[in-house]
Amino acid sequence: MDFSLNKEQEAVRKMVREFADKELAPIAAEIDETCEFPAATVKKMGELGLMGMTVPRELGGGGMDDVSYAVSIEEISRVCASHGVTMSVNNSLVCWPLLKFGTEEQKKKYLVDLASGKKLGAFGLTEPGAGTDAASQATVAVKEGDNYIITGSKVFITNGSKNQVAIIFAMTDKAKGLKGISAFIVEDTFNGYIVGSIEKKMGIRGSIQAELVFEKMAVPAANMLGKEGDGFKIAMATLDGGRIGIAAQALGIAQAAFEASLKYAKEREQFGKPIAKFQAIQWFLAEMATDIDAARMLVYKAAADKAQGRKYTVSAAMAKLYASDVAVRVTRNAIQIHGGYGYTKDYPLERYYRDAKITEIYEGTSEVQRMVISGDLLK
Ligand code: CAA
Repeated sequence: MDFSLNKEQEAVRKMVREFADKELAPIAAEIDETCEFPAATVKKMGELGLMGMTVPRELGGGGMDDVSYAVSIEEISRVCASHGVTMSVNNSLVCWPLLKFGTEEQKKKYLVDLASGKKLGAFGLTEPGAGTDAASQATVAVKEGDNYIITGSKVFITNGSKNQVAIIFAMTDKAKGLKGISAFIVEDTFNGYIVGSIEKKMGIRGSIQAELVFEKMAVPAANMLGKEGDGFKIAMATLDGGRIGIAAQALGIAQAAFEASLKYAKEREQFGKPIAKFQAIQWFLAEMATDIDAARMLVYKAAADKAQGRKYTVSAAMAKLYASDVAVRVTRNAIQIHGGYGYTKDYPLERYYRDAKITEIYEGTSEVQRMVISGDLLK
């Protein structure tokens, strides 16, 4: 069994780390403070092939494998988790389902711009009354001639802003329950597409989570993704891959907090010696390193399962469950090592802690991941 990355994956890590250190490190604290969406650096990520990493080159993507993708999200999130989620949603939740379920016309029309970062992709599943219970869609789509007329609203939609393409879910046949949900590709220029309030959040403050409102929005029938009634399965299959992205984001945040703690422990002196000489700090560091290594193995394993055509629903859920738990624990203990300084904005630790928390919530809470894993064990 070989746990090492191949040469190409190592080269991708090096390239992405250099990009993140050079371009994202100088603005990460600032966009957290101002909540400003970093359009210029996201555009550069598109130019590097990071916004559609596993999309073939001829369709505007990076033509890379799923492990390289996980490594890249890890490296971006090690420096800035806001860029991490922006990238993860565009890749996993929008480019991937278009590639998997889209027609050739849909791929040409939408995927090329999304994969190259010219447009930003959003995934509209969550509603005020449909969070964990994603099947409870209140948004409806009624067929009228060559269009579907969509009415409803979505909340917490990452990348839900201007210049975008969104995959949204709506009920085409309420009587059929979750088998009556369909998926649609919509553009922000469609009449009746309204960007509502933008969330003010605890973390990932440089990313956008918006309310989207659809007021009798006419969507061409040709923009249906998959067949009528396929929507819920498309959403679930898409989230399987998305969870690997969020697990990699959690891993990157934990890695950043660990590296900062290791450095600080060697520099900070109390009682006449570096705090790294005290066993309490040594144990913190040892546990952090072990946790992160275990999380990394689960994340890369899930990515490798996807890359090599194995089932990855459960391995993705395990990776997200474990890595998000590690991210919260490691960032909390990293603040503990930094003491009062860790609680201030002079250090990035409090940002890491705030950013880590969301990884236990979005793309399925930790409780949802436990449902998915236990559902498989008990089937
Ligand atoms: N792949 C394909 N199909 C799947 C599937 C998967 N992984 N999981 C379930 N399905 C299918 C099932 O086979 C079943 O179909 P059949 O009846 O034909 O067999 C159907 O879907 C229903 O399955 P369940 O009975 O398991 O569905 P459920 O209603 O009990 O829901 C759930 C299960 C796990 C709770 C699911 O609703 C869920 O994952 N909820 C969380 C939603 C979520 O993750 N939201 C994230 C929003 S996006 C986001 O957060 C993005 C962001 O901002 C970063």
